[in-house]
Amino acid sequence: MSATSPSFDSPEFRRALGRFATGVTIVTSSKADGSPVGLTVSSFNSVSLDPPLVVWSLSRGSSSLATFERCDRYVIQVLGADQMLLANKFARGSHAERFNGVPLTQAPNGTARLDMRCAAWFECFNRSRYDEGDHIVFVGQVEHCAHTEALPLVYHAGGYDLTPNMS
Ligand SMILES: Cc1cc2nc3c(=O)[nH]c(=O)nc-3n(C[C@H](O)[C@H](O)[C@H](O)COP(=O)(O)O)c2cc1C
Repeated sequence: MSATSPSFDSPEFRRALGRFATGVTIVTSSKADGSPVGLTVSSFNSVSLDPPLVVWSLSRGSSSLATFERCDRYVIQVLGADQMLLANKFARGSHAERFNGVPLTQAPNGTARLDMRCAAWFECFNRSRYDEGDHIVFVGQVEHCAHTEALPLVYHAGGYDLTPNMS
């Protein structure tokens, strides 16, 4: 058995996917020479509680592909509602520009981590990678995690949800 060809075009697929709200993360790692790499990622999600597993996917066209294909570890930082500019910064430009003016520290797992208050962060050992379509799916086993009470940044329909929280 195989799937029938899609009954919709790519813009319709994107519009339908855009009705699903996600959080926004920045995934960081380090190259072999120690320099940091990082990009904005909204494909993050949970997979398993025991063992603690998370998933995210990276475009095959990414300039970070070689680093993430080789690295064992990365950090997933969940952005707070006030970190939209940071999300935009890590979605464009060179990696040097992205990290310019951004405080960095080293996570216990040895990987570059943003040294700033985020909503949460997950330090992961990469457990598996799958080639799927135009993306690579990464499943990470969480070695350390922490969170703050910051409200999360929310993304849907190609934009950030900046509606003030009414609670
Ligand atoms: C809100 C948002 C979510 C994104 N989510 C993803 C994602 O899940 N996977 C991905 O590969 N790119 C995602 N992108 C796009 C990358 O951040 C963007 O293409 C970036 O320039 C990739 O950089 P690189 O290819 O140099 O690593 C997202 C961008 C934004 C603004």
